[in-house]
Amino acid sequence: MKLVIVKDYNDMSKQAAKLIAEEVTRNPKTVLGLATGGTPVGMYRELVSLHQQEGVDFSQAQSFNLDEYVGLPSHHPQSYRTYMNENLFAHINLPAEKTHVPQGDAVDLEAECKRYEQAIAQAGGIDIQVLGIGNNGHIGFNEPGSAKDTTTRVVALTQSTIEANARYFDSIQEVPTQAVSMGIQTILGAKKIILLASGEAKAQAVSQMLEGEMTADVPASLLQQHPNVTVIVDEEAASALS
Ligand code: F6R
Repeated sequence: MKLVIVKDYNDMSKQAAKLIAEEVTRNPKTVLGLATGGTPVGMYRELVSLHQQEGVDFSQAQSFNLDEYVGLPSHHPQSYRTYMNENLFAHINLPAEKTHVPQGDAVDLEAECKRYEQAIAQAGGIDIQVLGIGNNGHIGFNEPGSAKDTTTRVVALTQSTIEANARYFDSIQEVPTQAVSMGIQTILGAKKIILLASGEAKAQAVSQMLEGEMTADVPASLLQQHPNVTVIVDEEAASALS
C-alpha cells in the first residue's frame, strides 16, 4: 500500500480530491466508489470547487456508494443518500440516475443486495473506491470478523460504530443497528482504492491496517492484498505508526 502522510485534514481532502479529479479527467466514464461519514466531507467540498472553478466534468461518470442504513428511507435527513445529495451530487454534473446508493428501506433487502452487486458488475466494476476507516478498523460497514469473500449484504453494526455515528442523530436510540454494505470482496474488486484517515482517534486502526497482520479482525488490513491502494492520512492519524 502506498502511504502519503500530509499535515492536516485540509491537505488530506485536497490530495484525495486531486486524485479523483485526475481519474475522471483521464477517463470521463470513471465508475466512482464513494464513502460517507465525517472524513470525506472536505474531499467532496474540494471536488465541488474543482468542478465549479476548473470545469472538472462528471457528466459521463457513475457512482456507487459503499453503504446505507437499513430502515431509513432515502429522503431521511441522516440517510447516506441525503448526505451524498447535500455534500456532492447537488453541486456537480453527475447525472442523478448515474448515482447509486443501496436502498436501505427495500422490502426485500436480500434482493436489493443482489441487485446492487449486479449493477456494479454491469457498470464494469468500480474504477476508484474511496474509503474511510472506522475506529475499530472497519471499511464500509464490514465490521471486525467480516470475511474476505463477503459481497453486498445486510450487516449488524457494532456498539462502537453505533456510538461513533450517534453524533449525527438526536439520540443513540435513533441510530439504525443494521446497514446494507458492500462486502470486502466487492471493495477489493475496485481497480484502485484511496483510503483516508484524519485525527488521533484513527491512529490505532491506521497502524493495525498498515503494520499489523492481515486479519478479518481488522477488516482494513485485508487491503494489504490489493495491488493499488493509496492511504492518505494526516499527521495525527499517522501518529501510532512505527
Ligand atoms: C461510510 C463508511 C464507513 C466510514 C467510517 C469512518 O460510508 O462506509 O466505513 O468511512 O465509519 O467514518 P468517519 O469518516 O465518520 O470517521
